[in-house]
Amino acid sequence: MKLFHSPRIEPFLAKIDNRRLREIQRRYAGSSDRYAKYADVEHWLKINLPRVQELKLDRSPLKQILDLGCGAGFFLFLAKQFGHQCLGLDVGDFLLSNELIELFGLERVTGRIRAFQPLPDFGRKFDLITAFSAAFNRSEDESKRYFPEEVRDFFLKRGARVDGERVSFRS
Ligand SMILES: C[S@@+](CC[C@H](N)C(=O)[O-])C[C@H]1O[C@@H](n2cnc3c(N)ncnc32)[C@H](O)[C@@H]1O
Repeated sequence: MKLFHSPRIEPFLAKIDNRRLREIQRRYAGSSDRYAKYADVEHWLKINLPRVQELKLDRSPLKQILDLGCGAGFFLFLAKQFGHQCLGLDVGDFLLSNELIELFGLERVTGRIRAFQPLPDFGRKFDLITAFSAAFNRSEDESKRYFPEEVRDFFLKRGARVDGERVSFRS
């Protein structure tokens, strides 16, 4: 059996301005803010590192990446450490996410993705477009489906591979 070495998160944490991060974390400690959980940067980087590895971004040629609903930018921050050109798109309504995007030195366009509306013109093409835990059409019903049937069918008709909440398109 081949065992994969899982990179440690510490070298990535070391790239972050620790004093500024601690100051942000102090302000959000005990906060009931919807996304205050994202102040635990170490935890969310650990969640996002497997995403980077699964997409082979730790060993692939450099890519232009767009992350829809990028939130605080954990995924893009890690992808950037491997040399990729990264751009996020999010609403910009959440102060903590805005602060972390800035802390991570990420480029982000603010805007709301709306059904049947084209995305903004980013002025560049992308090799990879991601959207993690964004669930823009998530079904709130009891059925525990990740999205409504018609959205699933739409993905499938467009040639997507659907695996639980995971939807992937190959170019
Ligand atoms: C659960 S968070 C996930 C954040 C990030 N992708 C991650 O995995 O850490 C969902 C994100 O989607 C963004 N979002 C939700 N609806 C959106 C929309 N219509 N347009 C752009 N961003 C949206 C939210 O602002 C939030 O940052």
